[in-house]
Amino acid sequence: MAGIETATERLSADPAGIARAAALLRSGGLVAFPTETVYGLGGDATDDLAVARIFDAKGRPRFNPLIAHVPDLAAAERLAVFDDRARRVAAAFWPGPLTLVLPLRAGGGLSDLVTADLPTVAIRVPAHPVAQALLRAFGGPLAAPSANPSGKVSPTRADHVLEGLSGRIAAVVDGGACAVGVESTILGLEGAPALLRPGGVPAEALEALLGPLATGGDGAKPNAPGQLASHYAPGAAVRLNAADLRPGEVRLGFGPGEGGLTLSASGDLVEAAANLFHLLRQADALAGPGGTIAVAPIPEAGLGRAINDRLRRAAAPRG
Ligand code: TXA
Ligand code: MG
Repeated sequence: MAGIETATERLSADPAGIARAAALLRSGGLVAFPTETVYGLGGDATDDLAVARIFDAKGRPRFNPLIAHVPDLAAAERLAVFDDRARRVAAAFWPGPLTLVLPLRAGGGLSDLVTADLPTVAIRVPAHPVAQALLRAFGGPLAAPSANPSGKVSPTRADHVLEGLSGRIAAVVDGGACAVGVESTILGLEGAPALLRPGGVPAEALEALLGPLATGGDGAKPNAPGQLASHYAPGAAVRLNAADLRPGEVRLGFGPGEGGLTLSASGDLVEAAANLFHLLRQADALAGPGGTIAVAPIPEAGLGRAINDRLRRAAAPRG
């Protein structure tokens, strides 16, 4: 199956579609599915070959570990070692857009490729009903990075998945648009609580429970191995904090008084996050090769932290 181009099935998010998706996963195939953050590219997290296919389909470097998706805390505790603090965070935010990095539990059955041989594992319990149904039908952990070619804009609709991966994966379950629109927040809990990636759960909400979070990490040695400087890159160049619009640029606005493409006309960060990747794709198509997308300033608070993180990577020099 690996390396052979096959037609990608578009499955509906009903019991028949979920059953077909689970059967494809059990045979080692890759199935993209909706979560509340972005579409994930799922494969059996206990099957080396299936996990290797995920890296191949995305063109993802093998040193960049994957998130294991499970339906509930009990399944998560079979893969990782939880302390009281981790259980408190899980009780508050799971299911939902939060990934926990915890010590790997020996004998949990995960392929070493999932963790890239690290002593820790990233685990998430998604809230999306289709993701929940698929995890329960499949009956084991699913490794699932975002369902896009490595380094490109993440997918928030089934069409986005097919644009990037059609012919390289067995199927996509079409569950419509993702409500949150940016990836999960990644919280490191191997030691002092650390924000490894801003995302769908605002850091402020985690700090209310845990106190101040460590951040740190830099471009050269990112604290989540996937946090490379250039990511989410459209074809066009991206100009951030653009107060003006220069000739030939396509505007991506935020707040009142913006015509054309706008992340949120009312200046709502939740709406802006939900629209971000779809509008980046639209702006990219309008700008064309060699064009530039000029993005309005976005406040650095709440979901704005995740939005600005993605925009900075979209604007970074391409590696
Ligand atoms: O919202 C999400 O998290 C989506 C949906 C599909 O669940 N998934 C997602 O996966 O964003 P991906 O592969 O695009 O990003 C996973 C991130 C990467 O930056 C990776 O380096 C980091 O998680 N990661 C995975 N395991 C880790 C570990 N043990 N320690 C630190 N970072 C880890
Ligand atoms: Mg990704």
